This record gives sequence, C-alpha cells and structure tokens, in this order.
Amino acid sequence: MATNENTPVRTAVITGGARGFGKAFGDALARQGVHVVLVDRDSAAVEAAAAAIRAAGGSAEGLAGDVTDETRMAEVMAQAAKAHGGIDILINNAGLHSDEYGQPILKMGLAKVRRLFEVNVIGVVACTLAARPHMQGRAGASMVNISSSAAHMGGSAYGDSKLAVAGLTITLARELAPDGIRVNAISPGLILTDTIRAELPEATKARVKAMQMSQEDGEEADIVEAMLWLTSRKAKFVTGEVLRVTGGMAAGV
Ligand SMILES: NC(=O)c1ccc[n+]([C@@H]2O[C@H](COP(=O)([O-])OP(=O)(O)OC[C@H]3O[C@@H](n4cnc5c(N)ncnc54)[C@H](O)[C@@H]3O)[C@@H](O)[C@H]2O)c1
Repeated sequence: MATNENTPVRTAVITGGARGFGKAFGDALARQGVHVVLVDRDSAAVEAAAAAIRAAGGSAEGLAGDVTDETRMAEVMAQAAKAHGGIDILINNAGLHSDEYGQPILKMGLAKVRRLFEVNVIGVVACTLAARPHMQGRAGASMVNISSSAAHMGGSAYGDSKLAVAGLTITLARELAPDGIRVNAISPGLILTDTIRAELPEATKARVKAMQMSQEDGEEADIVEAMLWLTSRKAKFVTGEVLRVTGGMAAGV
C-alpha cells in the first residue's frame, strides 16, 4: 500500500534491523510506504539493509548504535524523527539469542548474564525512553517489543530476560497510554532466521518442533504479519498484550 499526498508518511525505528526479523520488519513496512530507520550495532550490515530497501524503491536509513547506549539512542531517535517530524512506530527487536547466550546460568557466569539482561531488557527501556518524546501525540503511535516463546516456558536465563520484556510491555503500555502510544509484544516460537539456522543443532530444532501443536514450520512472514497488524489502526484497541506466534508451543493462560 503506497502512500499518496494526503497520507502523512509514517516513520518506523527498528532495532536489530540489520538481519533476521528486524530486516524483514523493515522490508515489510517500507513496502507500505513507511520511512524506515534501521538501527544495529553492526554498522556495515545495517547500512547494507537500508541500501537494499532504497534499491527496491523504499525510503530507509541505517544507523549504527548499541541499544544499551543511552546517549547514542537519543541521537538515533532525534535523527530518525527529522525526516517526517517524529516517530510513529518503534520495534524493540534487538536481542541476544545466539547459542552463547542460551546456556545455563552456571555455564555463562555473571558477565554474560549481565550482558544478556543489559541488551534484552535494559535495551528495550533505553530505546523506549529515547523514542518517547518523538512519539508523544502522534496519531496511531505504537511500539512492539520482541519477547519469545521461551518467556512462557521457564528454565533459561534467556527466557527470563524475555519474560521481563513481556512484563515491561504491560508496564510501558500503562505509562505511555496518556501519550497516545500503544505498547504490545510478540512472542515468536522457533523461526528459522539466519542466526537460528546457522547455530541451532538439528536435534534441538526437532525437539522444539515436537512441542508445537502446528505441523507447520514457523516463518519470518508469520512474525511480520503479527507486527503489521499490531502497528496498524486495526489494532487500535489492543495495548499491553503479548501475542504468542508459536504454532501452539507456548500455549497457556
Ligand atoms: N529467531 C527466532 O526463532 C526467535 C524466537 C523468539 C524470539 N526471537 C527474538 O527476536 C529478535 C530478533 O531475532 P533474530 O533471529 O532476527 O536475531 P538475529 O541474531 O538474526 O539479529 C539480531 C540483530 O540484533 C543486533 N543486535 C544485537 N545486540 C544489539 C545491540 N546491543 N544493539 C544493537 N543491535 C544489536 C545484531 O547485530 C543483529 O543484527 C531477538 O530479540 C530474539 O531474541 C527470535
């Protein structure tokens, strides 16, 4: 859906936008005519992802930065807001979930657990605080945090960091409602993004898939569709929710 001269152009900031879900979110929003600002600590890859959107006819910029860096995130959000006078969508997607950070606490030790929570949890707060002044009062403003099926299943530090993301989603939804900003989360199940495809042993993939109800493989497109709905006017009455897109793996009440 392209915009026309009567439709104000929306701006979306997507953290962890260089690859995986973040890149797919950027591609999909750009196809809807949204100006996309990809943020990632991998500067070469984030610029390449933005250049690919531009080459396909979309509007995008790639900015380097670590989501835990409060000063840099303030600069990034101010830069993103310049194009169209503010920010309409923030996707807090950057996260550590590689094999290195999926280990038991006893194996990882304090430094790695601290970094895991710093990126996955504090990064969400840092970006939200930095984006808020640019989102206040924008019609239809909304944020989507990326949690995980692991949050609902217990038993890993990674899952615990994502459980904190689910909790923060409700807290931030309440605190930002007076600003007219909706805040929701998506908990993806196992989705074969490049990181997962490269790192997850086949046996683990099979074990995880056996926990699903659905016989289907989860795809990036499933998570993209959930994001598009949550950030659209169709979800105007939805805030403080955690939407599980897990093929039934993390079902529960
Ligand atoms: N792929 C899955 O099956 C799955 C399932 C559930 C949840 N998730 C969550 O979805 C999100 C994206 O997953 P993905 O598979 O696309 O990951 P990915 O590893 O492919 O991409 C993550 C991106 O985030 C960036 N990043 C990491 N730390 C950063 C930091 N401190 N500051 C800025 N950028 C940073 C990386 O450079 C990378 O480009 C993560 O939060 C992950 O925990 C993924």
